[in-house]
Amino acid sequence: MKKIIVAIDGYSACGKSSTAKNVANILKYNYIDTGAMYRAVTLYFLQNFVSLTNPIEIENALKEIEIEFRHNPKTQKSDTFLNGINVEQEIRQMVVSDKVSEVSAISSVRRFLVAQQQKMGRKKGIVMDGRDIGTVVFPDAELKIFMTAEMITRAKRRQDELLEKGEMIDLEDIIENLKKRDMIDTSRQDSPLKQAEDAFVIDTTNITFEEQVEIIVEMIGSKIYES
Ligand code: DC
Repeated sequence: MKKIIVAIDGYSACGKSSTAKNVANILKYNYIDTGAMYRAVTLYFLQNFVSLTNPIEIENALKEIEIEFRHNPKTQKSDTFLNGINVEQEIRQMVVSDKVSEVSAISSVRRFLVAQQQKMGRKKGIVMDGRDIGTVVFPDAELKIFMTAEMITRAKRRQDELLEKGEMIDLEDIIENLKKRDMIDTSRQDSPLKQAEDAFVIDTTNITFEEQVEIIVEMIGSKIYES
């Protein structure tokens, strides 16, 4: 069967990653969480005290970074590895969330990661989620989805996710972090988060997770059938 590229963009904590992961599982597609790649770079910068205002330091640091996704047979999920070390848990912590939008606004970081993402999509059969997938990484993707949800819904979902990992964070702090990230993500000069003109918008505030997955799987079916 013909394989396509599915680009899923949208704000933080709208359910992009979990939806994309499930859709990819159902269709036996590869799933790539590009946010995890920006988070892994942020973690490396924090661990190595890389100055975000020093372009040479940043270029040198990027040369030392290797990011991979490896299947975890225990969780049946894909884990993020930074230079051979599993950082899946660490990259989701608030210290990383607090800095990641700033790091992802740096053009050299974006160039470095976009090139790797485009390589991953060469064989198609991929579901990729992020902020610039339908606009920059794969402007010719066969299917583009833009996901949104109300702020309070997003914050509660993020709080539950963090709680599951043992981090208890006040809802107000999460809302503040999400607002700050929305502002930086949508207003940065290089590849700001915006809806591609040909993207389908899915507001996940009032639909269940299962419905989100079903809607996208059906859309993919129609795209494959159309072409
Ligand atoms: O999806 P996430 O919350 O894990 O993403 C973390 C940050 O990475 C987010 O604040 C913006 C940035 N990002 C980006 O700029 N471009 C992408 N394709 C993916 C994420």
